[in-house]
Amino acid sequence: MATAPWWRGAVIYQIYPRSFLDTNGDGVGDLPGIIARLDHVASLGVDAIWVSPFFTSPMADYGYDIADFRDVDPLFGTLADFDRLLAEAHARGIRVMIDQVLSHSSDQHPWFTESRAGRDNPRADWYVWADPKPDGTPPNNWLSIFGGGAWTWEPRREQYYLHNFLSSQPQLNFHNPAVRTAMLDNLRFWLDRGVDGMRLDSINFCFHDAQLRDNPAKPAHLRVGRGFSADNPYAYQYHHYNNTQPENLALMEELRALFDRYPGATTLGEISSEDSLGTMAEYVTGKRLHMGYSFELLVEDRSAAYIRQTVENLESRMSDGWPCWALSNHDVQRAVTRWSDGTGGDAPTDDFARQLVALVCSLRGSVCLYQGEELGLPEADVPYEKLRDPYGIAFWPNFKGRDGCRTPMPWTGDADAGFSPVEPWLPVPDAHRARSVAAQDADPDSVLNAARRFLRWRSAQPVLVGGDIAFIDAPEPVLAFNRTLGDERVLVVFNLSGAAVSWPLPAGMTLRALDGHGLAAGAVDGGELRLPPHGVFFARID
Ligand code: GLC
Repeated sequence: MATAPWWRGAVIYQIYPRSFLDTNGDGVGDLPGIIARLDHVASLGVDAIWVSPFFTSPMADYGYDIADFRDVDPLFGTLADFDRLLAEAHARGIRVMIDQVLSHSSDQHPWFTESRAGRDNPRADWYVWADPKPDGTPPNNWLSIFGGGAWTWEPRREQYYLHNFLSSQPQLNFHNPAVRTAMLDNLRFWLDRGVDGMRLDSINFCFHDAQLRDNPAKPAHLRVGRGFSADNPYAYQYHHYNNTQPENLALMEELRALFDRYPGATTLGEISSEDSLGTMAEYVTGKRLHMGYSFELLVEDRSAAYIRQTVENLESRMSDGWPCWALSNHDVQRAVTRWSDGTGGDAPTDDFARQLVALVCSLRGSVCLYQGEELGLPEADVPYEKLRDPYGIAFWPNFKGRDGCRTPMPWTGDADAGFSPVEPWLPVPDAHRARSVAAQDADPDSVLNAARRFLRWRSAQPVLVGGDIAFIDAPEPVLAFNRTLGDERVLVVFNLSGAAVSWPLPAGMTLRALDGHGLAAGAVDGGELRLPPHGVFFARID
């Protein structure tokens, strides 16, 4: 039997470099800081790291606004530091994925400087330019996710340019073949350096409707989406025309053809559309991306019914594709806070934090674990005066933005959290210092040590890494499913609440409990499975 590619079922640890470790005393993390903490990463037993953008950038969106796709921002180090990171990670058996932003650049990118200068330069058509309507207003009703209209006026051209995010993140024009070629060349630059894969930011935003048609209005009861504040007008539209255009599928195929020339290199597309699961299924097939992930488990609903419906919906539409799931990342409130049912009071329980790691690692797919998830960090409460995220500043106070999940890693319980000798770019909450790596390292029962045990145990269970998934009917708060690989079938059950529950087991199942995962485990009592608060149960079905 051919061995599965490394990324199928892999656990990918996401590093937000600004907040990992500061080694040069500027209050911001850097690439040498990641190198210095690779032993921590290795101790988790993960397969790969995904490093959020560290490229040259004015940092308006903290690196997701790139001014040079082929260089390291001096804030983070140098290309030589990156090469060293790659070598040091590989020496520890950790693969390295970088974050590539294809859809837009920074307004400081030389391409944009040239493009905005006039209508007849070689890059005039590299971004999305459009004339105003006769009354001077923007060409259509498209909106920016980060607030306000998606069009900004450029006096030099007497035209508007499109931006789906900040006005300093102009949208590249993928209808122009020269743009596609240039962006693929940028990817090749990093593949040639030896990266093992790429997380492809906002990958369904690459093309826009060439006719610039208006997006239709969305009724109030349907205005939900990726971490939107209820008052974000972006939620008031169906985004039929500003993203997820049919032309993008050919780009996914071009990307795959490029990656196929680098054995083992993988792609993970970030997808956020009107029907993200449908788009994931469409984008992730043999000839397109290797994996996709969306915001569908990064929302507020944490019911067993919602998790089941989300995974089943994707599974039923995906043919040969492979999903990737995440419960936390640098864009949303941390999961232990977002999904807390309040049973742990203000401080979410450690059992819950341990269970969430097990839950995301038990679904069919690969996993992104976000730095700090292994510590059970709750969302930080960053006061308005300290907010840095323009998205949060625009929508405060109903939506506080993304700073609360981006605060520095607490390495020690010291005043500086062992992160930086100077005041860090975002404050470290006291509650995080109390959950530092040093403190948890010393405690065998900590969330950190439980996560280490669980991840190692999981990687020795091929059925959990690569098996199929089928859900079993169970009332809230029980989430139950089977994973199957060849002749092996495993029952997986989670009690998603902070109170003990009993669940009558389906008739005719002969079970042999699997232990060694180290979590609060349920036990069979007659025909019932008794699960402690946030308990789990894994059993082989004979
Ligand atoms: C993605 C990133 C987010 C960024 C946006 C624009 O959604 O995850 O952090 O702000 O794209 O690049």
